[in-house]
Amino acid sequence: MSGFSADWLTLREEVDLRSRDSKLLEKAEEWLCDYGASELIVADLGAGTGSTIRAFANSGSQKSESISWRLIDQDSELLENARNRHCDSYRIETFDLDLNNTAALPLQSVQLITASALLDLVSEEFIDAITRQLVNLNKQQPVGIYTALSYSGMIEWTPSHSLDEEVQNSLNQDQKRDKGFGRALGPDASDYLEHRLTGAGFKVCRADSAWLLDAVDEKLVSEYIAGIERALKNDEALGLVFLKDWIKFRRLHVTAGTCRVGHCDLLALPQG
Ligand SMILES: C[S@@+](CC[C@H](N)C(=O)[O-])C[C@H]1O[C@@H](n2cnc3c(N)ncnc32)[C@H](O)[C@@H]1O
Repeated sequence: MSGFSADWLTLREEVDLRSRDSKLLEKAEEWLCDYGASELIVADLGAGTGSTIRAFANSGSQKSESISWRLIDQDSELLENARNRHCDSYRIETFDLDLNNTAALPLQSVQLITASALLDLVSEEFIDAITRQLVNLNKQQPVGIYTALSYSGMIEWTPSHSLDEEVQNSLNQDQKRDKGFGRALGPDASDYLEHRLTGAGFKVCRADSAWLLDAVDEKLVSEYIAGIERALKNDEALGLVFLKDWIKFRRLHVTAGTCRVGHCDLLALPQG
């Protein structure tokens, strides 16, 4: 068990799917289509229940059916869930591995590495190691990387509350706690990945993939508020009394207000 339940991943998936930048996803698929290889292999890091497979399938590309997926996660239950859902339609291999062991990741012969809702959990060291891996893989054949739905640090609510900014800042601090990879990059992850990949000679494109939530997303917004409460209940700078007041206000406005949570997608391809 990783702490990411299948229920939570299912709850957020509908919003994730509509929030991904469709143009960047198309570009990632074009990269695979133009490859001309008889077998297309994609390795999905922190695959969970296989949301990236469904994002490629939903985009309507014919080519998505010919992808062989290598799903990598340290949660065997989530991997089993993904396998059960997709093994009839796709060639799927699952790898119950800790991503920190980058040298052991099954990345040989892949054309694309993907990850969704993962990047903000990782550290500079992890991104450095993955960049090195990518550079080495590119000595054999061209390999790209596509990361989706990385938290960008911005949360906007309507109606507003006087503590919104403080809560956002406290949450962004909390996002930098170690999530199993060393000090997490949190909202800085996409900038850091772009910096490293550009430095390594890749062409990097980024796009906005913010969650835009309203009354229709009541369940997700309620869970999101509960998650913020769990994360910040010991935050002395914010103060429990003030946090409780903010939580109460947000719960009262779940269906009457809106919430925009910043996310970012990134596609990096080798040049030339
Ligand atoms: C927020 S979930 C995203 C899951 C999926 N990509 C999605 O978009 O629904 C993060 C995933 O990363 C996995 N994960 C976190 N740390 C990991 C590690 N050190 N090694 C392997 N997987 C890890 C978790 O088990 C979880 O499935």
